[in-house]
Amino acid sequence: MSRVSTYVKTQVRRLVMARVGSKGIDLSRLDKVPDTLAWPLHRDGADPVPRLGKLRAQAPVAKLTSFLGMNVWLVTGDAECRAVLADTTSYSTDIRPFMGARGSTTDGDIGGLGFTDPPEHTRLRKLLTPEFTMRRLERLRPRIAAIVESQLDEMERTAAENDGVIDLVPTFAFSVPFLVICELLGLPDEDRETFRELGSARFDVSYGGQGVFGAVSDSRRFLMEATRKQRSRPGEGLIGQIIRDQGDAISDFDLAGLADGVFTGGLETSASMLALGTAVLLDHPDDYRRVGSDPSVVDRTVEELLRYLTVVQIAFPRFPKHDVEVGGQPIAKGDVVICHLPAANRDPRLGPKMDAFDITRPVGPHLAFGHGFHRCVGAELARMELRTAFPAIARRFPDLHVARESMDYRRLSIVYGVEALPVRLQPQPVLR
Ligand code: HEM
Repeated sequence: MSRVSTYVKTQVRRLVMARVGSKGIDLSRLDKVPDTLAWPLHRDGADPVPRLGKLRAQAPVAKLTSFLGMNVWLVTGDAECRAVLADTTSYSTDIRPFMGARGSTTDGDIGGLGFTDPPEHTRLRKLLTPEFTMRRLERLRPRIAAIVESQLDEMERTAAENDGVIDLVPTFAFSVPFLVICELLGLPDEDRETFRELGSARFDVSYGGQGVFGAVSDSRRFLMEATRKQRSRPGEGLIGQIIRDQGDAISDFDLAGLADGVFTGGLETSASMLALGTAVLLDHPDDYRRVGSDPSVVDRTVEELLRYLTVVQIAFPRFPKHDVEVGGQPIAKGDVVICHLPAANRDPRLGPKMDAFDITRPVGPHLAFGHGFHRCVGAELARMELRTAFPAIARRFPDLHVARESMDYRRLSIVYGVEALPVRLQPQPVLR
């Protein structure tokens, strides 16, 4: 069972338990996400499934399913998604009220900005935003460049030991954002290996649900310990800076939770963009070579990759606090609204041939980072990583190519990606 299907299943089970738990129905036995709910997360390679496009053309706001008395609405149009995501007063993203006793604020299991409403969201987000201003991020730019170069060296070393073929996911796509987040958080070098192991376990499907959730609480504990250590000697990064700014006004629990949210929000997303983005570029060899040689195309290529791939498939679920209307469709208080970001980013009302990857299209605002007050806090950091990494890999390995016929895409996941991306760094020698 995939990690994300476990996640989806857990979220669905929690929601549903909360709805009907008080009536005594034991839904913890629910062990399969029904396909009526899960199908929009399936993809056809890089593309959303064609059924989504048909649905968007008919009804950009449509009832996906009715699940144990709960209406779930799927929003696939760009304007309709924006209307939902920008509405700061009509929706909650807080899943705690749906979780009964498990939603207590001291429960380390949930939290993070995404599932928090104002005023708590505003308070927590304000603590983070100073760390993500361009001025603070500039501090990371040379570190990001150095991390990228050292991972490219690592790819070369690994390839030399493996007949020229390596898996790009662990060597590059995962390692670059992992090390960048360690820098951002200000984790000392000697702790990074432990954290990497916890991080890999957390994102490793082979551990199954138990392993993944065990690793989540282990990495939380690790960050709690890192926060405690920095209380007496605040370091250079985000954890130390917030301690310096806030002192005792922020608890270790809240700070470790914020750090964990940054880790969760920033690692898998950027890793997926680096792996899938490289695969897409290798499929468009002219664009791949150009991104390595012509700095003027880098930003637009990154924006088009973000739009085309939209790796975060759905925004945090929105729960209407009162009856609402979206795109003319009435939605009742108590229903659930799911904004489908890849479908919205390919809405034909935005321009021609939105299903194609085309770096010459005019750069427009896309929804890959969401929209409104939950919009990704790390968007500029992610851009900085991608704008550094793609040109660097294309320069270092102009002959890079995928070393497998078919790609190992994730089957059911909120953050879309590949499990592995075997690549060959050099052209294969021709045997005579
Ligand atoms: C290419 C990489 C990334 C993508 C595609 C991405 C995408 C997103 C999306 C779609 C949302 C949710 C918006 C919503 O539901 O309204 C989000 C939220 C968030 N992201 Fe990212 N993200 C990326 C990288 C990062 C990085 C590098 C960090 C931090 C280091 C980060 C931290 C967060 C946080 C903390 C939130 C929650 C914000 C809130 O609720 O106020 N993300 N991201």
